[in-house]
Amino acid sequence: MKFKHTSVLLHETIDNLKPRNGGLYVDATFGGGGHAKYLLSKIDTGTLVGFDQDEYAIKSAELNFANLLQPGSEPKLELVHDNFSNLEKDLVKLGYSDGIDGIYYDLGVSSPQFDQADRGFSYRYDARLDMRMDQSQDLDAYQLVNTLSQKELADILYQYGDEKFSRQIARMIVERRREKPIATTFELVDVIKDAIPAYARRTGGHPAKKSFQALRVAVNHELDVLQASLEEAIKILRPGGRISVITFQSHEDKIVKKIFKKYSEVEVPRGMPFIPDDMKPTLRLVNRKPIVASASELENNNRSHSAKLRVAEKL
Ligand SMILES: C[S@@+](CC[C@H](N)C(=O)[O-])C[C@H]1O[C@@H](n2cnc3c(N)ncnc32)[C@H](O)[C@@H]1O
Repeated sequence: MKFKHTSVLLHETIDNLKPRNGGLYVDATFGGGGHAKYLLSKIDTGTLVGFDQDEYAIKSAELNFANLLQPGSEPKLELVHDNFSNLEKDLVKLGYSDGIDGIYYDLGVSSPQFDQADRGFSYRYDARLDMRMDQSQDLDAYQLVNTLSQKELADILYQYGDEKFSRQIARMIVERRREKPIATTFELVDVIKDAIPAYARRTGGHPAKKSFQALRVAVNHELDVLQASLEEAIKILRPGGRISVITFQSHEDKIVKKIFKKYSEVEVPRGMPFIPDDMKPTLRLVNRKPIVASASELENNNRSHSAKLRVAEKL
């Protein structure tokens, strides 16, 4: 089972975690395991727990990493088919209840999710409007597109996709679905093309790019689960443990930046002579500005263009 995905900011993400022998690490977004493979190559002993909510990613990993999943393997890999919003609960279930030494997130979708036409993520292939990363989830893009109100649709397109024609597109969706449900990616692309002005169709990227991104974020509750999971990850990191997060869009990066700021800065009331222990920051930023892809990575991996990496250390 091949899983073709070129990892973004591979060395920067893992080297900054400073993996060491005997440590317990978490890959929150296993995908094809590119980052995992590199981390595991840097330690002789220790454990990596890999999460992915996509059944295909987990099934591929079971085959491609079979030797590391064997009992007694060193280093050891354990796989969890779940959303990283259940991070702490799932780790406790596996018997890991006293913290972790490092965790990394490589957000967004993997190349197979985009390239397997029937997943319905891409405006380039005709498929049922799906976009679920977790195939067992009920909510899909078909439901959102065909049941949300015009205002709810416009808000999603604007807030998660920065689509400036959000209201026009939402209006056209609601108008068209009165005739019959909008069932496929290509039907939705046609609606979007019809909704936006001709000059906008000719310039910039694909006219459906922003709307598809927005719907994907909404279907998978991407921003809500990220916020909750980062808070949990920071809580269970051991002192000296590190967290690396790669984001691909500004909304995600804002969440990471805000949470890292919340835990790395303290507001000391004026006149207070010292900072009490319970007011001290819990995180130290390893990099103030996000790390971005090098010129050679930009040249070789298209997905790296919008990638931003932030790293912090638990104090
Ligand atoms: C960009 S890919 C990761 C690629 C991986 N780092 C590699 O090098 O091969 C993102 C993966 O994270 C998974 N994912 C995204 N959000 C998730 C979540 N909330 N919980 C669990 N898995 C998630 C997706 O299903 C996808 O397989």
